[in-house]
Amino acid sequence: MNCRIILLPGDGIGPEVMNSALAVLNEVGRIYDITFNLTEELVGGCCYEKHGVSITNETVKSCRGADTVLLGAVGGPEWDSLPHESKPETALLRLREELGLYSNLRPAIILPQLAGHSPLKRKVINGLDLMIVRELTGGIYFGKPRGHNSDKGWNTLVYTREEVERIAHTAFQLARKRANRVTSVHKANVLESSQFWKSVVSDVHRSYPEITLTDMYVDNAAMQLVSAPAQFDVILTQNMFGDILSDITGTLTGSLGMLPSASFGANHAMYEPVHGSAPTIAGYGVANPIGMIISVAMMFTYSLDLTEAGDLINKAVEAALANGYKTEDIASDDETPCTTKEMTDAIVGTINRMYDGTEASTNMEKVGK
Ligand code: IPM
Ligand code: MN
Repeated sequence: MNCRIILLPGDGIGPEVMNSALAVLNEVGRIYDITFNLTEELVGGCCYEKHGVSITNETVKSCRGADTVLLGAVGGPEWDSLPHESKPETALLRLREELGLYSNLRPAIILPQLAGHSPLKRKVINGLDLMIVRELTGGIYFGKPRGHNSDKGWNTLVYTREEVERIAHTAFQLARKRANRVTSVHKANVLESSQFWKSVVSDVHRSYPEITLTDMYVDNAAMQLVSAPAQFDVILTQNMFGDILSDITGTLTGSLGMLPSASFGANHAMYEPVHGSAPTIAGYGVANPIGMIISVAMMFTYSLDLTEAGDLINKAVEAALANGYKTEDIASDDETPCTTKEMTDAIVGTINRMYDGTEASTNMEKVGK
């Protein structure tokens, strides 16, 4: 099998976690006999430094031609004062828009090894296993008119029927493979766009009678996520609410550094961790590579149709944690944190041993509990 991947390490800790992704790709590629055709390109602040734009047209074009795209993170304080259209974040927004990646999946589960590290009590987070389905190419992020002058700033929150329908289908179809529950999160008590969202989602729901649909206002959803998160299965929501709620779920599971994400459109896919470029720890080799590595696992499962490889990576991550490897964001006060490289080596080493059978995956689970 041959697979063409564009690597976009980006800024801050992006290149560090991308190195971890590469180590995992190499190992899994060796095991499953996949030849990866990898091309690395600049995006974000580093691209601005070299080309004066956050992403070049050529890079967008190569991403269009690839099987899939892996992204690290973009942004940093040194580029904060750039004009809006040059900011590193625009690279991400342009990729999402031009590749038509309207559907963003952000799963959150609580790993037993990290339960103690959640800011919530163990009994509250027990059973947390949810998926945020975030609409990614519409809403207030992209609506026009938009702008600002010295007197005012403005954005437009607009959703079309087609945009809401397709993301609703994504959520209902995903719920079928999970616990058959969808919570549609909006602000229909205040916003007309949300009343529209609510009614379109309820129309789409008619094709999925086996799924239970619940409506929830976004302020209540934020509160429920920190007080009773185990009630959720699939959370379906618009672009900006999904952005905010996924930072909350990231923190619930122990660290934002742990969370992966996958973005899909009709013809393209991109995988990236939920965390940002973390400029304060960049360059020290201490970043948590797990969000990035699990994003690679999602790539195997969703884009390459190799669920077995995805599962293998996930199990290896759990095993590394069970064996005591914790980067500083997830280490307790009495634990010595490991480096990005140590965590990566532990995960890659486990993949290798698990596959060769010297460490059966059933034993892994026992270690983890
Ligand atoms: C995310 C990020 C992005 C977003 C930024 C960097 C544009 O916060 O992927 O969650 O707001 O979508
Ligand atoms: Mn975000």
